[in-house]
Amino acid sequence: MNQQPTLTAQEINPLGSLEEWEDDLIARYPDPAGTQPEHKTKEEFRNYEAPARDSVREFYKLNHRYQTYDFVKQKQADYLAFNKKEMSVWGAMEFLNTLVDDSDPDIELDQLQHLLQTAEAIRADGHPDWFVLTGFLHDMGKVLCLFGEPQWAVVGDTFPVGCQHSDKIVYPEFFADNPDSQNEQFNTKYGIYSHQCGLDNVTMSWGHDEYLYHITKDYLPEPALYMIRYHSFYSQHREKAYDHLLNGHDRAMFKWVDKFNPYDLYSKSPKTPVVSELRPYYEDLIAKYLPATVRL
Ligand SMILES: [Fe+2]
Ligand SMILES: [Fe+2]
Repeated sequence: MNQQPTLTAQEINPLGSLEEWEDDLIARYPDPAGTQPEHKTKEEFRNYEAPARDSVREFYKLNHRYQTYDFVKQKQADYLAFNKKEMSVWGAMEFLNTLVDDSDPDIELDQLQHLLQTAEAIRADGHPDWFVLTGFLHDMGKVLCLFGEPQWAVVGDTFPVGCQHSDKIVYPEFFADNPDSQNEQFNTKYGIYSHQCGLDNVTMSWGHDEYLYHITKDYLPEPALYMIRYHSFYSQHREKAYDHLLNGHDRAMFKWVDKFNPYDLYSKSPKTPVVSELRPYYEDLIAKYLPATVRL
């Protein structure tokens, strides 16, 4: 069954902004240091809850229903051909930044600002330059939205497909609508996988993480690639729900995923980075590790 679902505009973009997913993550996994993102007061968080919470719920309903094993295989076949665009990494970032959400521009940070804040927080803590670069790049795969992908095939928590959906994944009840959950090949604990087979043998739900991993996999150190590929795999890096699929090497590498996650979630600040000041540093870093152009 390789039918693409026919979607309404509401089903393509259930979220007012991609940031609603990220705000929901912060609500789910609050900063242990206790600081809410400074640009949102408690009051704003409360105000946001009612309508945005409903849209996040709707978002996951669609995500859990449509992210089947076959759906992922189709997206891989389409996007991993890399025949959409060829551009410099900085150019890809500027392209990503044309993704404008319709929510309040006074509150929302654009994509480039989130990436620079993440990277600058990593840099301020004295981490190696490839880690800083990873912070800068990690959401570049969201350009999928600009290729017409629905939000739930770009962002959202990721999870393995081809085996049972863990009840530790957010809104697990929505997997009842996913045809894979009725498929005997896929609906057991291991499904098509085996004990500690290693994540490299596991197909993840489709989104910006997997896509960027494939764009960068020949160029960045392995810890960077784990951070990119699994940064939205909350049911593992936060909940340890898929220990039975990880091998020893995955477990060692997930220490880096864990190290990265707080920078992604908790680095938001109302102080917007001055792009023109930071650009030369990041252009040098890009040139050190990545080719002059990448294919999307
Ligand atoms: Fe991300
Ligand atoms: Fe991010």
